[in-house]
Amino acid sequence: MERVYNWGILGMGKIARKFADDLRLLPNARLHAVASASLERAQDFAAAYDVPHAYGTYEEIVECPDLDIVYVATPHALHFTCAMLCLSCRIPVLCEKPFAMNAHEARKMIELAHNNQVFLMEALWTCFMPSFQRALELAESGAIGTVHTVKSDFGFKLPLDPNSRLFNKTLGGGALLDIGIYPVMLAMRVFGKPDALHIQAAATFTETEVDDTCVFTFQYPEKRIALGHATVAANTPVEAWILGTEGSIYLHPRWHHTAQLTIAQYQDRAEETREEYFPYAGWGYHLEAQHVMECLEKGLQESPTVPLQFTLALAETLDAIREKVGLAY
Ligand SMILES: NC(=O)c1ccc[n+]([C@@H]2O[C@H](COP(=O)([O-])OP(=O)(O)OC[C@H]3O[C@@H](n4cnc5c(N)ncnc54)[C@H](OP(=O)(O)O)[C@@H]3O)[C@@H](O)[C@H]2O)c1
Repeated sequence: MERVYNWGILGMGKIARKFADDLRLLPNARLHAVASASLERAQDFAAAYDVPHAYGTYEEIVECPDLDIVYVATPHALHFTCAMLCLSCRIPVLCEKPFAMNAHEARKMIELAHNNQVFLMEALWTCFMPSFQRALELAESGAIGTVHTVKSDFGFKLPLDPNSRLFNKTLGGGALLDIGIYPVMLAMRVFGKPDALHIQAAATFTETEVDDTCVFTFQYPEKRIALGHATVAANTPVEAWILGTEGSIYLHPRWHHTAQLTIAQYQDRAEETREEYFPYAGWGYHLEAQHVMECLEKGLQESPTVPLQFTLALAETLDAIREKVGLAY
């Protein structure tokens, strides 16, 4: 790729910094503009990352000359307005997960991208991890026989802080949308979208009325099952298993960006295991950024790795889980 792509970022939080760190790993990427709700925060960020354009409102970024793509890194509840703002000006968008607060918003974003013929992708960085891609490839190839179970967890202990976006209901707080999305996504990558009738879920709630723990099971035809656990009330292993009739694939902690897989093959009552390693540079966000630039280079309006149909199915499944547990925003 010869062309250099000019990136913009909306929202100057934790993930924006990691993403900006990783853009530096890509010779074809340049951080060109940043926008914040505060001009001072945008200017501080711009100074730290050598960014030529800094704005004190999100709206201003669409006026920036020579901007090729915007990464939306605001809290969940703002993804819709931030993405719509850029898409309506025909600026390609990489939008953090969860893509939107619900499937209704997701549909509108996808519709606008289609109508304006502009690139849009949910930033499901796990899908670009070589370890994750290898695990899916092994599962699909029959290397562990017929896959019947997928299970994963994602948990960390966070003291209740009503000011944190994770506990703030108006910002889309709660375990499911923030981290439960990963176990849901894994289940769907292996088995597809679950039928809403075969989703079971339960949650416990904070005094701020968001879920601090959420568990789910998806039952699929032919004796296949997926289970997931997300919590901000305890540190959990953050590991994932794909289990088949002939063996298993273990994604080491933290599974959603792991560098190690253990593949087991059953032999009578014993098993033989082997390790596979997938080291990567930086935080790992450059892998999705590189993919986005390749899509733009090819003139694609969506990613073949994270198609918008998958994003919509994911949003619908999260809606279905929320309905089961009584979590409405
Ligand atoms: N892919 C991943 O691995 C990953 C990891 C972490 C987070 N995320 C996603 O990225 C998004 C941002 O997460 P984060 O951890 O970076 O959050 P964060 O540290 O809380 O930062 C979010 C930023 O959004 C802006 N913002 C706008 N309105 C806000 C409001 N009312 N309250 C708080 N902040 C507001 C703020 O920046 P300005 O005011 O300067 O604009 C803030 O710094 C979330 O949707 C999350 O799910 C993804």
